[in-house]
Amino acid sequence: MIPPKPVPREGRVSLLRYLRLFRRDILSAQPARLYRAWMATFRAPFLRSALVNDPRLVREVLEVRAHDFPKSPRVTSGLALLLGRSVFVTNGAEWARARALIDPVFAGGRVKDSFPAMLAAAQAAADRVQPGAWEAEAAMSHATADVIFRAMVSRPIDDADAAAVFAAFRGHQRAQPVLHPGALLPFLPRWHGARARATAATIRGLIARMVDARAAEVAAGTAPDDLVTRLMQARDPATGQGFSAGDLADQVAIFFLAGHETSAAALSWALWLLAAHADVQDQLAAEAAAFAAAPGFPALASMPVTRDVVREALRLYPPVPMMVRQARQAERFRGRAIARGCQVVISPWHLHRHERLWEDPDAFRPERWGTEAARASAREAYLPFSAGPRVCPGAGFALTEAAVILAVMLARWRFAVDPARLPVPQAQLTVRARDGIWLVAAPRA
Ligand code: HEM
Repeated sequence: MIPPKPVPREGRVSLLRYLRLFRRDILSAQPARLYRAWMATFRAPFLRSALVNDPRLVREVLEVRAHDFPKSPRVTSGLALLLGRSVFVTNGAEWARARALIDPVFAGGRVKDSFPAMLAAAQAAADRVQPGAWEAEAAMSHATADVIFRAMVSRPIDDADAAAVFAAFRGHQRAQPVLHPGALLPFLPRWHGARARATAATIRGLIARMVDARAAEVAAGTAPDDLVTRLMQARDPATGQGFSAGDLADQVAIFFLAGHETSAAALSWALWLLAAHADVQDQLAAEAAAFAAAPGFPALASMPVTRDVVREALRLYPPVPMMVRQARQAERFRGRAIARGCQVVISPWHLHRHERLWEDPDAFRPERWGTEAARASAREAYLPFSAGPRVCPGAGFALTEAAVILAVMLARWRFAVDPARLPVPQAQLTVRARDGIWLVAAPRA
């Protein structure tokens, strides 16, 4: 079964129509030619953008000359309510200072320290599954919020908090479009609606409670060694300075959001793909049974099917479908003039399904990862975690967490698709399904 793909828009559209389509879903607003083109430019009175699929240019923008293509303020301003001035949205020296404090928190063997949190959250998620119709997105959001919560503050997230955050984040994505007229007309101040403010306040309230409780424990010398304690204690080796209290809440906000929303999206799609491919699901379940019998961090290294399913799910449904940068100066891309201030879009969604860069790009074929052809394609066009200096610092964490959750779930449950409710991919900030991802769950013998 070919995994669902948004129907691209047909032909040219006016700026107004494009904005309307974009607001609903940034994927189906795009034309089909982006799956074949190396580059496409868009020009309107206050907006110039260039989507680049040429691997050489992608490397140039993200890695070689990352400094000349900072994150676009037109997009990051939309995230301000949720993320304040976290590392995800800043640029230049402010970004570099924060990143220097964050990288050691995830460095080297530190992901292993979070393995018990991942395992406990995965087991709790498998306990919550009920036989029959089962919606994967809410369940995986709960599971991954629980993982990051346990890894950050050494305790599980309350059921009520998990449900509130899931609803608030979904509501926020709908209430707060990634691009809105305020972003197009840069001289207008950014305006946030009441609904976006309310949903952001729910999420930020949860984070503020977490940070305040931990600050008291650090002061009393009773804080456990977890991600939040490490962030609070992180110091810049050059200056000896750490995060201020306000900065810390913003950084914890991005860890919490980037750390669970993306992983939840990836896992929900991975479960749907497994449900639609019973043969692959059986292979993964065999690895899962061995893992569940003696779960441990080292066992993850001998689970090739699980690893390739995660890679393939991230290829077909990259949780971050597009990344937007802004050209600091005039450029020439593929012989075309790119004006200063042009929005440069890198689209993992299109790169991962590019017809000239992948064989059979829309098919779910985890076994492709054993071939040299796929590895060559991946070197050119596989960016689920971005690349270069702003590469996702949580990539190792996310890959480990995904393998643990899939293995624990599949050791206990068998999933089938519900043919009457096929998911329709739709993206605002992350790639989700328009009406959820419905599966049918049955206990494994
Ligand atoms: C499957 C799961 C994940 C995916 C697909 C993912 C993907 C990404 C991508 C594509 C970016 C770059 C965005 C851009 O440059 O515009 C990013 C940045 C980031 N991610 Fe992740 N991520 C995942 C999980 C995590 C986790 C688990 C954490 C932390 C616990 C995390 C923390 C961050 C942070 C802090 C940044 C900002 C880095 C910077 O700008 O320097 N992510 N992620």
